[in-house]
Amino acid sequence: MNWGDRVSPTVRAIPPSGIRRFFDIVAETKGVVSLGVGEPDFVTPWHIRESCVYGLQKGYTAYTSNYGLLELREEIAQHVNNKYGVPYDPRKEILVTVGVSEALDLAMRAILSPGDEVLVPEPCYVSYKACVTLAGGNPVIVPTTLENEFRVTVSQLEELVTPRTKALLISYPNNPTGTILTYNELAAIAVFAEKHDLIVISDEIYADLTYQGQHTCFASLPGMRDRTILLNGFSKAYAMTGWRIGYALSNRDFINAMTKIHQYTMLCAPITGQIAAIEALKHGDGDVAKMVDEYNRRRRLMVEGFRKIGLPCFEPKGAFYIFPSIRETGLSSLAFAEQLLKAEKVALVPGEAFGASGEGFVRCSYASSTTNLTEALKRIDRFVKNCR
Ligand SMILES: Cc1ncc(COP(=O)(O)O)c(C=O)c1O
Repeated sequence: MNWGDRVSPTVRAIPPSGIRRFFDIVAETKGVVSLGVGEPDFVTPWHIRESCVYGLQKGYTAYTSNYGLLELREEIAQHVNNKYGVPYDPRKEILVTVGVSEALDLAMRAILSPGDEVLVPEPCYVSYKACVTLAGGNPVIVPTTLENEFRVTVSQLEELVTPRTKALLISYPNNPTGTILTYNELAAIAVFAEKHDLIVISDEIYADLTYQGQHTCFASLPGMRDRTILLNGFSKAYAMTGWRIGYALSNRDFINAMTKIHQYTMLCAPITGQIAAIEALKHGDGDVAKMVDEYNRRRRLMVEGFRKIGLPCFEPKGAFYIFPSIRETGLSSLAFAEQLLKAEKVALVPGEAFGASGEGFVRCSYASSTTNLTEALKRIDRFVKNCR
C-alpha cells in the first residue's frame, strides 16, 4: 500500500526544508565544524531560566489565555512602544504564539483566500514560500542580487504586483543574507504598499541584532501600523530558540482572526516559555547587548576572513549570517557545501536552500565560537585553493 498517495497534493508538492536535508548528512559525520545552524550558541541567560524554575515551583503549569499571559502582552506593548514608538493595545492587538513560526502560519491563514498572491523577496527564510502555499496562496518571488546587496526595491515590486496581490512578506535584517534596509528604503516600500492596498507581514525576528544604524520597525512608518502584521520573538535576541515564544502585533481584526485559528490549533503558547519571556523583557536588555557585541566581533572576523580567502561577500549589517559568493569555484552551492563537508568537515548551508536567487552563495552562521570560526575559515581557504 502506498500511503503517500493519500497525502494531500498540496503537501506532496512542497519540498522538505533544504537546511534539514543537508543537516541529516552533517549529523552522520564526525568532527564537523558547523556554521550551519541558525541559532545562538549562547545558553539562555540564567535569570531567564531561573524565572521559569520559580514559576514551576509556584505551580504555574496550566493553560494561559489564548492571547497569552496579559502580563507578557503588557511587557511586549511597552517594549515595542519604548523602542519604536508604536502603541498596541495589549488586550486586543497582541497575540503570543509558538515562536514566530506559528505567527507566520497564522498570518497567512488569516488573510489569504485561494489564489491570492504574496510578494516574497528572495533569498528568504526557508518557511516563507511553504507558509503561503499551505494557506492556499501563491508566493510570487522577487529575486534580489549581490550587486544590490540583496535589497528589494520598489521598482522590482512594481514589476511583479498584480490585481491578485494581497500581501508583501519582508524580513530585515534578513536570513540568509544579513541585509538591512534603511528608513528611506522601507518608507518607499510603505508608499508602494499603500498605493496597491497591500498587507505587509514584517518578520523582524533579527531586529535587535543590527550592527550598523538603527533598526526601522515597519509598523512605525507613517500609515503602516494597521496595514502591518508585525512579527517578533525571543528565539534569536535572547538565545531562547527552544522556548518557542513569538508574538504578532496588528490591528484588532487581524489579531482576532489569527487568534481564532490559534485557539483551535494551538490553544496557547507554553506557560513556561511565557514566564521566561516576561523576565527577558523586564531584565534582559544587558544580556542582549553583550551577545550583540560578541556577534559583532565575530561578524568582522568573518568578513575579513572571506575577503582574505578571496570570495566576494558584502558586509552583513544584521542577523548572524554571512553570505559569500562561491561562483568563482565553478561549483553549485549544493556541490560546494557537500564537497567542503567531505573534504574539510565544515558544514554550511547551500544558498539554493533559500530559493533560486540564493544559488551561487553559501550561508555561514557566525553564531559559533571564535575558535570554531577561525578553524572553519582556515579549512574553507584550503578547500577554495584546491578548487582554483
Ligand atoms: C527569518 C526567520 N523568521 C522566523 C524564524 C523562526 O523563529 P522561531 O524560533 O521564533 O519560530 C526564523 C528561524 O530561523 C527566521 O530565521
